[in-house]
Amino acid sequence: MTKLKMGIIGVGGIAQDRHIPSYQSLDNRVELIAVQDVNEERAQQVADKFNIPKSFNRYQDLFKEVDAVTICTPNKFHAEIAIAALEAGVHVLCEKPMAMSTRECHYMIEAANRYDSVLSIGYHFRHMQEAQVAKKAMINQEIGEPLVARVQAMRRRKVPGWGVFTNKDLQGGGSLIDFGCHLLDLALWLLDDPKPVEVIGRTYDRLSKTPGQVNDWGAFDHESFNVDDHVTSYITFENGLSMQFECSWAANIKEDETKLTISGVDGGLSVYPFELYQTKYGELWDSTVKMRNEMDDPGVAQAANFVDACLGHADLIVEPEQALKVTKLIEAIYESSEKGTSIKL
Ligand SMILES: NC(=O)c1ccc[n+]([C@@H]2O[C@H](COP(=O)([O-])OP(=O)(O)OC[C@H]3O[C@@H](n4cnc5c(N)ncnc54)[C@H](O)[C@@H]3O)[C@@H](O)[C@H]2O)c1
Repeated sequence: MTKLKMGIIGVGGIAQDRHIPSYQSLDNRVELIAVQDVNEERAQQVADKFNIPKSFNRYQDLFKEVDAVTICTPNKFHAEIAIAALEAGVHVLCEKPMAMSTRECHYMIEAANRYDSVLSIGYHFRHMQEAQVAKKAMINQEIGEPLVARVQAMRRRKVPGWGVFTNKDLQGGGSLIDFGCHLLDLALWLLDDPKPVEVIGRTYDRLSKTPGQVNDWGAFDHESFNVDDHVTSYITFENGLSMQFECSWAANIKEDETKLTISGVDGGLSVYPFELYQTKYGELWDSTVKMRNEMDDPGVAQAANFVDACLGHADLIVEPEQALKVTKLIEAIYESSEKGTSIKL
């Protein structure tokens, strides 16, 4: 079997914790050839640590060696590097969010189409077992037509105290762009890409801007903190569907909660844990699932799908046009909060 030659761009946390180990576990079909980072020393250290043959300082040099790249840089550089890779005929898996704006997302998609290259985005929540089961339940009409979705991506006092997560210039936003985006993406996918028509959003930063906060994920500088730490939104869609959305890095709540529930005409479901709520034989009827392989790793599933799509053996699970819609909603939530009005799309 032909192996895909893969390069990693930006070798920080997510590259080392997820992407590199995932590709190395799929060594029957993908070969990690090279890494690149603006921090040359880190690139070499990571190449040595994971036995990757080459490391580069310029991504243009890496493109000559590989069939595909995985982009793991701060968000500000996603579009520039993805477009350069696609133009060089290199397939791209880009970490989430796709880019800093819908305009950048459009340019990325245009480049992928023009150069006939594969482009996907790292919305790995779709690869979780619960999400895969929920998708099948939705396709099989287990809950009938969906009416209302409730989405929460909530952490108690866990502002990332490392990396560039709290830097608006490099990341474009905070809890919404970092964490909320995964659940927004998953909800849109399960709902079969409904067309949003109106968005109301409010963003908060008061807690993290206040000095001396108790924070479970390390220390951060409250003065330079310039992103959101808590976001709420109400989104309506063309087909009458509505979504209540909330995400936070730093909520004052009892405990962290990742929640996605959908109520439909005939039933409802929860993704975490997966449960179905129906009526049968004149009674309320709940179903749960015993996952057969609890060790399944969404990072490996994501890598396998991208590699197989590049090799022409599979369809992408995360299409770039879908990731663009997530960025469009994120933009609308921020705009709504800034203007204090709802945004019509
Ligand atoms: N899917 C997820 O759950 C998830 C989790 C964490 C991070 N991420 C995403 O992954 C990306 C990276 O996050 P991270 O936590 O690994 O950050 P990080 O700060 O740990 O690593 C980023 C790396 O990129 C390098 N870099 C910066 N600018 C560069 C450039 N122009 N070209 C090449 N290298 C460059 C830095 O030197 C650093 O080594 C972000 O887009 C983030 O949103 C996704």
